[in-house]
Amino acid sequence: MTTLLYVALVLLIVANIFLLYLVLYKGKTKTTASYNAKDVGEFYNKQTDNFLKVYGEVIQAFRTTDVSKLLAYQMEAIGFQKGQRVLDAGCGVCGPARYFAKHAEVTVEAITISQDQVDKSKQYIRQAGLEGSVNVQQGDYHHLSDYYDSDSFDTIYFLESFGHAVNHEQVLGEAWGMLKPGGTLYIKDLFIKEAAIPSLEDDILREVQNINKAYRYNVADLYQILRFARKKGFIVSKLKTIDIPLEDFENLTISNDFQELTGINKIENLQEYVFPVDFFELTFTKPWNALEYGNSRYFLQNLFYMQVHNRKQEEL
Ligand SMILES: C[S@@+](CC[C@H](N)C(=O)[O-])C[C@H]1O[C@@H](n2cnc3c(N)ncnc32)[C@H](O)[C@@H]1O
Repeated sequence: MTTLLYVALVLLIVANIFLLYLVLYKGKTKTTASYNAKDVGEFYNKQTDNFLKVYGEVIQAFRTTDVSKLLAYQMEAIGFQKGQRVLDAGCGVCGPARYFAKHAEVTVEAITISQDQVDKSKQYIRQAGLEGSVNVQQGDYHHLSDYYDSDSFDTIYFLESFGHAVNHEQVLGEAWGMLKPGGTLYIKDLFIKEAAIPSLEDDILREVQNINKAYRYNVADLYQILRFARKKGFIVSKLKTIDIPLEDFENLTISNDFQELTGINKIENLQEYVFPVDFFELTFTKPWNALEYGNSRYFLQNLFYMQVHNRKQEEL
C-alpha cells in the first residue's frame, strides 16, 4: 500500500513538473524575443537590397501580384482622409508611404530602424517629388515619444512591421500616446495559427520559431494583442481576415523566391510544411474622452473610458 502511495506521489510530481514546463516554456515561446531592435536594424541594413530585388518597394509577404492593388486595398482599409497627418511605423523603403501620400493626399511621417532603408527612402521620395509630404527618419518604434509629439497623429499604421516588436505591449502604448483622441491604429500582420488539430501544435510552434529566428520576428498571439490593446483602452473597431480576391492574390511564392535568393529559412519539404500563421487586419480606435463625442457611435466605449478617468456619467 505504501509503495502504491509512493508511486502515485511520484507520478503527481512528474505531472506537475510537466504542467509547469508547458506553462513556462510553451508560454514563453509565444511572448519573448531573442533579439533586440538594433538586431532588426542590422538585419534590414544587410538584407534590404535583396528585399528590393525580390519584393520591390513594398516589403510585405501577404500581397497581390500587382502590388498597387494591395496598396489601394490598404488605403481603403485604413480609411485615410485627405489632409491627415499619419505615421508609418516600420516603413521599409517608403513604398506604401509614397503611395498613400500621393493617392490619399495625407502627410506621412515614416520611421524605420534601418539606416539603409532611410537612405534609400530619401532617394525615392526625392525622385517622386514628395519631399513635402513624406518625411522619413531612423528610429525605434518602441520609443515613438522620443521623436514625435503626443496626440499628434490621426492614424498610425504598421504593415507587416508590428511583429518585429520585442515588446508588443510597449509599442501599443507608444502608439496610443502619439494618436489624437479618435485616432486610428491599423495593424496588418501575421499571428500564430490556432492548432485546429491538437497534434499540429508543436509543428506550428516550431515553424513560428523558425520564422522568428530567420527574420528577427516575434510573431504575435492575436488574443494577447487584443488583451493589451483593450487594457490600454483602445476600442477594437475591426478585426478581420484580409479580403484579397483569389485571382489577385500573390500566393506567397515571393517568400519562397526570397528564401531561394538568400537561403534564409528555406523550406526543404513543402509537402510536409505546416503553415504556422494567419494574417489579420486589426483596427483600434483611441477613445475621445470628450463630452462632445458622448453621442458618437462608440458611445459605450467612450463612456467607459471617461468613467475610468473618474469623469461623472451625468456630465454626458
Ligand atoms: C517587413 S518590413 C515592412 C516594410 C513596410 N511596412 C512595407 O510595407 O514595405 C518591416 C519593417 O519594420 C521595420 N522595423 C522593425 N522593427 C522596428 C523598430 N523597432 N522600429 C522601427 N521600425 C522597425 C523594419 O526596419 C522594416 O522597415
